[in-house]
Amino acid sequence: MTSATLRLKNARIVLPDRVLEHGTLSIENGRIADIDEGSTSAAGIDLAGDILIPGLIELHTDHLEPHVTPRPKVDWNPLSAVLAYDAQIAASGITTVYDSLRLGADERKSVIGAVSLDLAHIIDDAQKSGWLRSEHRTHLRCEICSPDVVTELENFLSHLPAHLISLMDHTPGQRQFRDVEKLMIYYRGKGGMGEDELAGFMKRRHDLFERFAVTHRRALVDIGHRHGIRLASHDDTTLEHVEESIRDGVSLAEFPTTGEAAAASHAAGIAVMMGAPNLVRGGSHSGNVSAAELAQSGTLDIFSSDYVPVSLLQAAFELPRCVEGIGLPEAISTVTAAPAVAMGLDDRGRIESGTRADLVQVHMAGSVPVVRQVWREGRRVA
Ligand SMILES: [Fe+2]
Repeated sequence: MTSATLRLKNARIVLPDRVLEHGTLSIENGRIADIDEGSTSAAGIDLAGDILIPGLIELHTDHLEPHVTPRPKVDWNPLSAVLAYDAQIAASGITTVYDSLRLGADERKSVIGAVSLDLAHIIDDAQKSGWLRSEHRTHLRCEICSPDVVTELENFLSHLPAHLISLMDHTPGQRQFRDVEKLMIYYRGKGGMGEDELAGFMKRRHDLFERFAVTHRRALVDIGHRHGIRLASHDDTTLEHVEESIRDGVSLAEFPTTGEAAAASHAAGIAVMMGAPNLVRGGSHSGNVSAAELAQSGTLDIFSSDYVPVSLLQAAFELPRCVEGIGLPEAISTVTAAPAVAMGLDDRGRIESGTRADLVQVHMAGSVPVVRQVWREGRRVA
């Protein structure tokens, strides 16, 4: 045993295919060295029978924005916001996070690209300074019908790299908002618009769709491929949407809204990602297909915490309880191995000799998973 060795013992270790009772895991130089079955009298951190799982991998969190803008028109110091956000991410057991940053101004927010780039610089500086607990990567959410989205993406990539691009279209009547009446309710609630104002807004959104939907999607896909950045489709609803995703070389289908779109994506080798809150809450907040239904039919691959970081861990432990035939290793893989594979990260996402020692100690308080300790590359971060 070298001085760099850290040993975690008396743990229920969740391996890719089974759970090892009373396991011992040793870490050397930030990597998992050995995994042994049975108790040991050797020195080490006693996990007292708690569960040990790989660090979670989050591909689409919406949780940075509420830290940066905690109330409408209230901007927090961005570094302070990033540090608080990072702490919450790590304490939720997430050791690799793809921060969602939006590109593509709309009429209500005209400086989105510049704000996202400033924020990305702050995250990048903080990461290089060693101030962040989780590893942060960049997910650029591109609204394809925005007039500025292509130039904003080109500008962003001339400054910083990105690791995932999602192609979003939230035009009324499309995808997530097929039901225009529901969208009206959403905007009435969110923006406090009057009826005439809302009608004008809808018309302008349709005009932008006609002008930009096809050409911008093409341009964004080309830029992604040129830079070797993985692509995600967003809110795929019909088989035509999925065929378009296949044609565009998409790796990930974010939040398909129908069982049909999810099944076709999964069959085509596009990883299907659903919101963890959807499972935890027992259904979609916008009335689309339920994550449990997709898991039941074997077409759900990945969970994302979306707007509640801790939901990722909750969904993984909830899944075996609500879907018959899914065991803990398979459930944990939806938030670890599956997102790692979809993003081409082959050094993490599973407890195996040689992989990164990104680990989470979980104690079960009844049905609620309690994060007790988190390590990233062998270093305790929460
Ligand atoms: Fe959406």
